[in-house]
Amino acid sequence: MLTHLPQHAIASHQSMTVDMAVDGLPAKLITLVNQQGMSVTLMDIGATWLSCCVPVIVDHQTQYREVLLGVSTLNDFYQQQAYLGATVGRYANRIAVGKFSLDGEDYQLSINQKGNCLHGGESGFNHRRWQMQQVNATEAQFSLLSADGDMGFPGNLQVIVTYTLTENNELAIRYSAETDKPTVVNLTNHGYFNLLGADSDKDCLSHQLMINADHYLPTDSSGIPLGKFKTVEATSFDFREPKLINQDWLADSDQQQAQGYDHSFVLRSDVRRATTACATIVAADNSLTMDVLTTKPAMQLYTGNFLAGCPNRIGGEYANYSGFALETQFLPDSPNHPEWPDNDSILRPSEHYHHLTCYRFR
Ligand code: GLA
Repeated sequence: MLTHLPQHAIASHQSMTVDMAVDGLPAKLITLVNQQGMSVTLMDIGATWLSCCVPVIVDHQTQYREVLLGVSTLNDFYQQQAYLGATVGRYANRIAVGKFSLDGEDYQLSINQKGNCLHGGESGFNHRRWQMQQVNATEAQFSLLSADGDMGFPGNLQVIVTYTLTENNELAIRYSAETDKPTVVNLTNHGYFNLLGADSDKDCLSHQLMINADHYLPTDSSGIPLGKFKTVEATSFDFREPKLINQDWLADSDQQQAQGYDHSFVLRSDVRRATTACATIVAADNSLTMDVLTTKPAMQLYTGNFLAGCPNRIGGEYANYSGFALETQFLPDSPNHPEWPDNDSILRPSEHYHHLTCYRFR
């Protein structure tokens, strides 16, 4: 099956495992392959999803298409600030001014974007070296201990992320975490996709998207929620029926201030069991469809509004809108909004954080 690996994936393997990471050691990579020939490459640094090659039938012939935006050198991995394919934590998305209170204690987190804490702060889980273990041909497990006080977060947090490639061409990502002090946890994967081909030079705005959400969360210009959910009805955020991403492009001020979509959707309760897709996205030429299934209560749609200049894996750069991210998570700034239903990101020592997100290609 390894013969199906595209050249660029093999090249990344070679270079990324020779160059030194910031800790002076090379990265370790694992490639999962199923019987359909779908392959997924993962890296221990950032517990990162580096590559996703999916079988696609074109002119009655099977081709293997790279659909995940990525880099091919460790230098580019560190240089890019788009969190390409990385596991994001301890708290994905933003916490306003990096502050929250828990059980009467005030916490100040690392501030790394526009005065707020984004994706866990200055040195998030995306740059950590995780312990990586291949379980079998289609499964790999990553673990990380985030120490008490890491980026300002309380509690020693033990995190395990398991990637499983199924014979249905799904990548299931299971997140689990335990803490020894009350803390907040919000883990996601920051993969960007382009179903026409990650390095195809085609933007992602021609994809057709459906999101099972009746409400979204308006934000200020730095991405911090204004506080209230807004109905998608009669807004450009209504994806309940499939529509092209660019159909209502920049149609209102919420989108304009973010230069596109960079907003969280409140998922309908009936799609939070990972049995029905919370989102389905179809390539413009109908050649490939991706379903997202999750147990999490919200999902950020980010249309790659600031991707320009981010290195790609073929020696060039991505452009804005080269790919989209569908980040399943708790709503941004949830620790400061206890009034939001089903978005309690607090984890206590007696509890177990456990979530599943699955990307299915068909
Ligand atoms: C998330 C944010 C975006 C951007 C990307 C990373 O999707 O919402 O604003 O920061 O991460 O570049």
